[in-house]
Amino acid sequence: MTPTAKILLLGSGELGREFVIASKRLGCHVIACDSYAKAPAMQVADEAEVFSMLDGAALGAAIEKHQPDFIVPEIEAIRTEILADYEAKGFTVVPSAKAAQMTMNRDAIRDMAATDLGLITSRYVYAESREALHNAVAELGLPLVVKPVMSSSGKGQSTVRTETETDAAWDYAAAGMRGDRLRVIAEQFIDFDYEITLLTIRARDGIHFCPPIGHRQERGDYRESWQPAAMSTAALKAAQDMASKVVDALGGYGLFGVEFFVKGDAVIFSELSPRPHDTGMVTLVSQTLNEFDLHARAILGLPIPAISLLGASASAVVLADRDSDDFNITGLADALAVSDAHIDARIFGKPVTRPYRRMGVTLARVADGDAKKARAAALSAAEQINISYGPTQ
Ligand SMILES: Nc1ncnc2c1ncn2[C@@H]1O[C@H](COP(=O)(O)OP(=O)(O)OP(=O)(O)O)[C@@H](O)[C@H]1O
Ligand SMILES: [Mg+2]
Repeated sequence: MTPTAKILLLGSGELGREFVIASKRLGCHVIACDSYAKAPAMQVADEAEVFSMLDGAALGAAIEKHQPDFIVPEIEAIRTEILADYEAKGFTVVPSAKAAQMTMNRDAIRDMAATDLGLITSRYVYAESREALHNAVAELGLPLVVKPVMSSSGKGQSTVRTETETDAAWDYAAAGMRGDRLRVIAEQFIDFDYEITLLTIRARDGIHFCPPIGHRQERGDYRESWQPAAMSTAALKAAQDMASKVVDALGGYGLFGVEFFVKGDAVIFSELSPRPHDTGMVTLVSQTLNEFDLHARAILGLPIPAISLLGASASAVVLADRDSDDFNITGLADALAVSDAHIDARIFGKPVTRPYRRMGVTLARVADGDAKKARAAALSAAEQINISYGPTQ
């Protein structure tokens, strides 16, 4: 049988794995790529290729070899100029090479959002030296959040609350940055009431939204998420309007995770992923079609049906705490036995652990009750899952 489409997936983590499952259900052939073998998405894909997504020659060779209908980035750290080259040659990059390029660098997407589109963001300046960061502190005042312009999952990110913390923030950002551009964004710390991810689908038949997802972050990385996030109609409308503008500016088809901070009815744009979002894993139990199904449908040009919530739901992460390739994940039976909710879990099958590496997630949906009840169930399920490590080598 001829596949529905041939997909080259760049990055093969847990989000990629669910995307492979969604696209395979629609008859696609998927080649999963990552820098290491047996990555989560490779375990369920048709073929795998191991190379660094930052290696332009290897990336070009993989595109030439497989001649995919769709090139689907799953991570930010990709040699995006190569994607632009292949897009110019007629290949389809999801959602667009521009989106991959703009979101890889915080400064590119922030300037586009704040300056070109006029969205409300925190006040910010860039700094390319320790001295410039001190100047930024003087200009914007404290507290400030400092982040490398190229990083994800909170890497290199810290909050400066007193002037004396400025040097440490610079060093931390310099150590946590990716790529070779030593530049940080210093932005006003927003004392938000809550933050959300608005999953926004740009499809052939227009723009669609999932109900807002609330989440809690620690060390710049997500710990739990829930859906729906309680929000005023005015705040939700403001977030939807901003999300529409930004996805239209980036173009292409697919699902985007648009992040906002909310304080009262004030909605502040933070950043976005032009692909499924980690906090959106809650949709694996909360919605008729999850974020991976929606991404696949949008990419393939299929219609997007009405998105309905099956019940208040939540996800909670399972993290490792050390480096090991000799470990065991136990307690799944106890986790799935948590009552008062429909409970599910994903164990990602990553071959090695690292401190704070996400190894799995628990999911909970309640038949009646609110997101608070779902959060409690997902958290107690996550507490049952244990990573036991073998003797250290
Ligand atoms: N200006 C800010 N004010 C208050 N909190 C902030 C600010 N910037 C970031 N944060 C907090 O840090 C989290 C991570 O920040 P951000 O999303 O910018 O980083 P990231 O490294 O891109 O994370 P990810 O890749 O996981 O989305 C935010 O979700 C928020 O909780
Ligand atoms: Mg983020």
